[in-house]
Amino acid sequence: MIKTKRHIRIRSTGVYLPDRVLTNADLEKMVDTSDEWITTRTGIKERRMASKEQVTSDLAVNAARMALERGGLKAEDIDLILVATNTPDTIFPATACWVQKKLGIKETPAFDLEAGCTGLLYALIVAEGLILSGTARRILLIGVDILTKITNWEDRGTCVLFGDGAGAFILEESDDESGLISHFWGADGSLAELLILPGGGTLYPASEDTVKKKLHYLSMKGNEVFKHAVKRMGEAALEALKQAGIEKEQVDYLIPHQANLRIIDATGERLNLPKEKIVVSIHKYGNMSVATIPVALHELAEEGKLQKGQIIVMVAFGAGFTWASAVYRW
Ligand code: UT7
Repeated sequence: MIKTKRHIRIRSTGVYLPDRVLTNADLEKMVDTSDEWITTRTGIKERRMASKEQVTSDLAVNAARMALERGGLKAEDIDLILVATNTPDTIFPATACWVQKKLGIKETPAFDLEAGCTGLLYALIVAEGLILSGTARRILLIGVDILTKITNWEDRGTCVLFGDGAGAFILEESDDESGLISHFWGADGSLAELLILPGGGTLYPASEDTVKKKLHYLSMKGNEVFKHAVKRMGEAALEALKQAGIEKEQVDYLIPHQANLRIIDATGERLNLPKEKIVVSIHKYGNMSVATIPVALHELAEEGKLQKGQIIVMVAFGAGFTWASAVYRW
């Protein structure tokens, strides 16, 4: 086949999921909720939870090591570390720098990208630009979040939703037609307050008052976010397909951000896809924010479901609001 356009490809993937499992039955003992409510409204049955000692870079490093091993690479083969997260180890330095230290990689550029739950796809788009421009040759991209450490465990509207995890991709230029074909991204900052962690930044610097007002916890107007997510994810997926010149019928797998099974189903319907083409892992892991898409893609590949040439659509929506989609040929 004659190569017509340059692409980046995912050379290898890795994941890390904390051992501790928090079930809906566990949550029934913590807040006024029920397995029935959580299952029917969200599709979640259980989620993973980082230990007290684990920080975001620990999860990230574990996923990175797996991706490096599967790619047949050593840490020093990486020339840029990009971490997409909303829950950094520290406000600064970047979690990517903590990851660099733990991996023992010296002097490669390392930075974080924050774009709500859309962070992985935003970072993929940035990585494409860096690789195709020659700025970086091989990028370690990690999508990671520990949302359970910014969760208000007294708020039943949010505490049942989230889980922790990490997924990593090793990205490099493709030498054939496989790889990222098209993408689409957008944001609407006018709706920023609907999904926010208000405290600890310059808007509400940490103080006794911010702690009392619970401003260091994630806060969300769930039903508002829901409506925007359904609209934007459907539109974004269709737009990336249009830009790729690929019809809905040609899609082999849709990997949507896993925030709510009803949002996932609505996005699948927008693309007229049968259930078996829609990748769902929310029942096992809940909403792991940036980590949902890389973990789902890794598991799909692990299960042996992906064949060369197949078309995958990834799409996400999150705080910002932000949204993005990508069409990828495996
Ligand atoms: O990842 C980034 C993007 N995030 C999302 O996309 C999340 C989008 N939003 C959602 O997934 C849904 O809005 C939720 C799952 C968060 C909530 O579902 P909903 O169908 O929108 O419920 P609601 O917030 O409108 O609440 C309906 C009722 C309320 O009771 P009343 O006022 O009708 O009596 C809530 O108090 O459900 C109640 N409720 C609960 N009941 C039992 C809210 N949380 C719970 C709960 N258990 N955990």
